[in-house]
Amino acid sequence: MNTNQKRIVNCKSVDVNQLMPLKYHWAWEHYINGCHNNWMPTEVPMQKDIEQWKSNFLTPDERLVLMRNLGFFSTAESLVGNNIVLAIFKFITNAEARQYLLRQAFEEAIHTHTFHYIVESLSLNSHEVFNMYHEINSIHKKDAFEMKLTEEMMQDGFSTSTTKGLQTFLKNLIGFYVIMEGIFFYSGFAMILSLQRQNKMTGIGEQFQYILRDESIHLNFGIDLINTLKEENPEIWTVSFQKEMQDMIEEAVLLEIAYAEDCLPRGTLGLNASLFHDYVGYIADRRLERIGLKKRYFKASPFPWMSECIDLEKEKNFFETRVTQYQSSSALVW
Ligand SMILES: [Fe+2]
Ligand SMILES: [Fe+2]
Repeated sequence: MNTNQKRIVNCKSVDVNQLMPLKYHWAWEHYINGCHNNWMPTEVPMQKDIEQWKSNFLTPDERLVLMRNLGFFSTAESLVGNNIVLAIFKFITNAEARQYLLRQAFEEAIHTHTFHYIVESLSLNSHEVFNMYHEINSIHKKDAFEMKLTEEMMQDGFSTSTTKGLQTFLKNLIGFYVIMEGIFFYSGFAMILSLQRQNKMTGIGEQFQYILRDESIHLNFGIDLINTLKEENPEIWTVSFQKEMQDMIEEAVLLEIAYAEDCLPRGTLGLNASLFHDYVGYIADRRLERIGLKKRYFKASPFPWMSECIDLEKEKNFFETRVTQYQSSSALVW
């Protein structure tokens, strides 16, 4: 097998079961990094969260922040998992990239599991949490935006053999990796980590830190995948397609700001919706640049504590103690 003949999509000369020799070392590295981050939501003690939730420790506004974010994340995680399995996986013709997708799909299942565990621990109304994406307009709009991208690729006869088909595929990758996991998750991360910083619902805060750590790798894999797809198929990255992607990201920014407004109708925790105009713009600019599009918002982050390095390699130190702790969390017992 000639490694150089491996291609991310539409590969005709190397079969997809031949992992080695590797061509896309980045995909393998993301896979190994993901495997080093094993964790289970049920390992996080919830007693303090339960006490705080059941007493009047949180204000109604703080409870709303928590509930809306549980509502969004509980189903968003499965949308991402489903998109990998139903839309992305079959069109990726490379073994090392598929290896990563298998790992990521498992992590998305762990993330969905987290919300099951939180609902059970706090005795929340599961219907209310898991049905919120049908009930709350700003959540519904973000999810509908994503589900449309999955459906486009599930149409009968969809194929990546044409320029148009490949552009639809790339749009799906940008919609999920850059927008869903790279923008739509970040207001929620900032809100829940704000609660945690004030010693509120710290078990959930810790679970969100684990999710954020996983999502940082998902985002970085997605960006490598997107940029490789562009390099191998330069004909799809036309000026008009770039404009379409730029517009799509700008539309997503508005959806995300509307979501933040819905979570923070009055402002709480030192947070208010106007800070999220800046934060979402700041995040979006960083994503735009990484896929070769122009910055648009030029905002400073209002949450420097979110750590500028949170989705970069430096982030590893931040989590170092836990990474070690979870590296081999369970031994075999017969
Ligand atoms: Fe996730
Ligand atoms: Fe993810």
